[in-house]
Amino acid sequence: MSKKNNVILIGFMGVGKGTVAREIVKSSDYFSIDTDDLIESIENRKVKTIFKEEGEAYFRALEKRCAIWLEKNVDNTIISTGGGFFKQENIQDIGKIIYLESSFEGILNRIHSAPNAKAKLKKRPLLKDLNLAKKLFKLRVEDYKRVSDLTINVENRDIKDIVKDILGNI
Ligand code: S3P
Repeated sequence: MSKKNNVILIGFMGVGKGTVAREIVKSSDYFSIDTDDLIESIENRKVKTIFKEEGEAYFRALEKRCAIWLEKNVDNTIISTGGGFFKQENIQDIGKIIYLESSFEGILNRIHSAPNAKAKLKKRPLLKDLNLAKKLFKLRVEDYKRVSDLTINVENRDIKDIVKDILGNI
């Protein structure tokens, strides 16, 4: 099957996938969808609550449903994803995959300098323990690169510059 005209943003928690997607929408004709938002909408509860009440495996099954739905039904869209969505088997069939790259320290700096830093940390169960989060980051880094069609470094870069880079590549 030929690739669809979607752009899928992957990368670690807090790297700015949603922010980049929203900024692309401002300067293009694309619409955007976020996989965590989709899941929260069908479940009518927050990701954090889903993790707490049902566990991670249940959440991953929802991501899988979401991936199948996106492949079948969505085109011409910027899709921002949860940090673990890159594992979906059919991700290559959903569209062009862009990895937003930053060091772990760069991500922590970004989160801590946000006005709503506390909320950003609170809504992410897998960021609760920073040692574990760093281990997870190290485990995932190579896989993010491997599944992506393109890597864009976002560390310490102006958002407008990042968006220009992405729009020039899609
Ligand atoms: C997760 C990242 C989160 C969310 C869930 C699990 C992960 O999304 O999907 O908490 O496994 O990295 P963000 O990347 O938007 O924080």
